[in-house]
Amino acid sequence: MTDKKIQEQVGRRRTFAIISHPDAGKTTITEQLLLFGGAIRQAGTVKGKKTGNFAKSDWMEIEKQRGISVTSSVMQFDFEGKRVNILDTPGHEDFSEDTYRTLMAVDAAVMVVDTAKGIEAQTKKLFQVVKERGIPVFTFMNKLDRDGREPLDLLSELEEVLGIESYPMNWPIGMGKGLEGIYDVFHRRVELYRPDNYDGERYIPLDETGNIPESHPLFSNDVYTQAQEDVELLVEAGNEFDEHRILKGNLTPVFFGSALTNFGVETFLETFLQFAPEPQAHKTKEEEYINPMEENFSGFVFKIQANMNPAHRDRIAFVRIASGEFTRGMDVNLERTNKKVKLSNVTQFMAESRENVETAVAGDIIGVYDTGTYQVGDTLFVGKKRIAYEDLPTFTPELFMKVTAKNVMKQKSFHKGIEQLVQEGAIQLYKTVQTGDYVLGAVGQLQFEVFQYRMLNEYNAEVVMSPMGKKIARWFKEEDFDERMSSSRNILAKDRFGKPLFLFENEFAMRWFNDKYPQVELETLF
Ligand code: G4P
Repeated sequence: MTDKKIQEQVGRRRTFAIISHPDAGKTTITEQLLLFGGAIRQAGTVKGKKTGNFAKSDWMEIEKQRGISVTSSVMQFDFEGKRVNILDTPGHEDFSEDTYRTLMAVDAAVMVVDTAKGIEAQTKKLFQVVKERGIPVFTFMNKLDRDGREPLDLLSELEEVLGIESYPMNWPIGMGKGLEGIYDVFHRRVELYRPDNYDGERYIPLDETGNIPESHPLFSNDVYTQAQEDVELLVEAGNEFDEHRILKGNLTPVFFGSALTNFGVETFLETFLQFAPEPQAHKTKEEEYINPMEENFSGFVFKIQANMNPAHRDRIAFVRIASGEFTRGMDVNLERTNKKVKLSNVTQFMAESRENVETAVAGDIIGVYDTGTYQVGDTLFVGKKRIAYEDLPTFTPELFMKVTAKNVMKQKSFHKGIEQLVQEGAIQLYKTVQTGDYVLGAVGQLQFEVFQYRMLNEYNAEVVMSPMGKKIARWFKEEDFDERMSSSRNILAKDRFGKPLFLFENEFAMRWFNDKYPQVELETLF
């Protein structure tokens, strides 16, 4: 491609992730978006949805789904001149550090909230990561076809729980059985839920007073009056629409709708694509920002997915292209090792299949076939100028397991396996100060299962893991380090960089510690 063509292509890209708590409707809305984009032909194809409620450690079941979940890790479609990449952030048992890391590879996030439940735990955690990055967040308040909480209540919750200001792009007219439509502040129209109940017109334009014509039967409906009053109140007392603040992640535009009944989703998609940013510059270790439009290819590995299928012992390294153009078979530099690698076996992920990809540009995600070459955080680049993108953050684990080799004769492979998997970013490792035990840390149960499986299959090391349950990990400064501070309720350990931390049994134990040693400052990672 010529430079101009590359720039044009990059400018078309919109790359985002959907964050939500399980069951808020992420899969349903994703499918609707793919349907609009013509990427799938019918709903229900994204995740082989709900194919059995597998038990926590039923590995084979996770296995069966894995083939599908690799495919749906990145979904691409075209819509109104834009090329959209949606990155999946797995929840439930699939939740892992990779879920967080995926958020490092997007330019925007869509937060799906169940209007009956409001902000839930997983949304909150994912939101923190997004907030830290300062990328824009668009909120979709879902399940309007069911009775939910007061819309004003939901907006205050965004501010109180997440600390983000909001701007309602539209407002529900009724809810549940009484849902009539949305009052679209942004497009200055009312969008009807069931146009057939009226004269078949889906949109009714607002006049200059912000009203639908008095002659319209909806005009005298109480739910309409209520919505109109709410909006008036918000216009007077609420936040102003400010594109700049949206792009900085300080203001979230809020859309109401119902993914299941496909109401408000298209309006959302159109408006979202109008404001979602094109690929943004990424920061290097030298604090330089690389322009995505630059001619030379560069990118970074944000996730490595091991294929658990014994028939395919491969891994896929997910690379976010940060600048320039990728073409199949190109030679690139792997910054960490300073060696050249050929990118020949590369896939791009489509909703229904994995396809070989010939070219891709900044903003796109490619899946590079990996036999152990890549690590999470690796930079790939072309050109004389060496580029190293910033390290990806490490996330505070919440689940811990003691780990030992089952066979003492296999210590060597045990250590090799642990070292490599930890380096790759599959799991975190700590060593307790008192007893010298190895402790694994993860943000999701799946990480332990993947670890155990790969240790056996790739390193021939059978491991024994004993759960330590939930713990609260907090780091502290080297100079505060004192072995005598540890007790049975707060285990003292060191991470793989030698930094000391406590594993507290619970909040209570942490507070007790804070009271006893007020001078010790405790830190959390993300
Ligand atoms: P997730 O990916 O965020 O976990 O959620 P998913 O889309 O799977 O949706 C969770 C449940 O909520 C599904 O019901 C789905 O049909 C339902 N749902 C999603 N959007 C809406 C909506 O706008 N309105 C209503 N009323 N329900 C919605 P399920 O019974 O668990 O699954 P299924 O049997 O329908 O597949």
